[in-house]
Amino acid sequence: MKLVRTLKGEPTSPPPIWLMRQAGRYLPEYRELRARANGFIDFCLRPDLAAEATLQPMRRFPLDAAILFADILLIPYAAGAGVRFVEGEGPRLDKQDSLARIEGLDWSGAVEKLANVAETVSRVRAELPADKALIGFAGGPWTVATYMLGGGADPDRWSARLLAWREPETLDVLLDRLVETTTAYLVRQAQAGANALKLFDSWSEALPEPLFARAVIEPTRRIVAGLRAAGITLPVIGFPRGAGNLAARYARETGVDALALDMTNANPGFLALLPEAFPVQGGFDPALLTAGGPLFDAEVDRLLALGAKRPYVFNLGHGISLETPPEHVARLVRRVTGRE
Ligand code: CP3
Repeated sequence: MKLVRTLKGEPTSPPPIWLMRQAGRYLPEYRELRARANGFIDFCLRPDLAAEATLQPMRRFPLDAAILFADILLIPYAAGAGVRFVEGEGPRLDKQDSLARIEGLDWSGAVEKLANVAETVSRVRAELPADKALIGFAGGPWTVATYMLGGGADPDRWSARLLAWREPETLDVLLDRLVETTTAYLVRQAQAGANALKLFDSWSEALPEPLFARAVIEPTRRIVAGLRAAGITLPVIGFPRGAGNLAARYARETGVDALALDMTNANPGFLALLPEAFPVQGGFDPALLTAGGPLFDAEVDRLLALGAKRPYVFNLGHGISLETPPEHVARLVRRVTGRE
């Protein structure tokens, strides 16, 4: 599998390509499938529907990898944090902003409640061609904690940052529980047949270095170490979105095999801060994927040139927007790989 070889450090040309949120509402067949589920969480937890959603973009585009159809908020959902997706409003949770609440959640039963996700992984693996990789994933503990502390999206991560400074030991307990649960959940995905794993720490931006080290780097390092201790040797991609130059420290200290770039750090100045030949992924602006237009090919080529001297996986700097025309995805894959 080209994706796995690249993530393990082998430069490949053309690079492998997959796209964050490649399954989703920009695809009419996804919307049709989604309408058959009883809400988004039911959709994620039904292996027949989730496997089909995972495979839909693979049928349409010659991508090198599928990403499991699930969500980073399934862990708080399974722990009993009251996760629901309100149509047009995004995720809502019951605020878990005290030690008593955090300790009262069902952490030990959570992974078992997500057994259907592992079932989805094995179904997809059984259907995917041998040269296509399947990526399993979870949220980074800090990002998941921001939703749990904010009761949903936490603007500027204000609730989480307040707790981090006011009651550092409470945040640490929450992060500890998330580290343990996330590690066990990823071990299950690996055992079910995933070929690579990714940690989405999508709300890593604008943290002072000591807090970034404590809330993003350290929990990630412990998850990677836990996977290795469990005998899981799959490549792990880390995505500390918005971390800027601190992403280089994350790459050096967490043990991840590859770093996913966003739009701010997909440039030579940042790559110079990384260990030599450290595998990287991503950077293409989802707005340009939506726009298409005259500047599209030059930006694809800039990223191909940026990645030419090291192991590089083509991807976006953040997830596909729902208004993206599917033809633009086909155009991107064609430009990167020459495949139709
Ligand atoms: O990439 C993929 O195709 C795999 C599946 C995937 C989803 N969410 C499916 C999804 C992945 C990897 C995620 C990760 C995720 N979920 C993140 C981190 C990545 C990022 O975008 O920064 C975050 C922050 C979440 C939490 C979440 N889930 C949000 C904020 C939303 C949007 C709410 C909304 O109403 O749009 C979701 C829902 C969600 N997760 C959708 C999909 C396809 C849309 C749900 C729908 O069909 O209505």
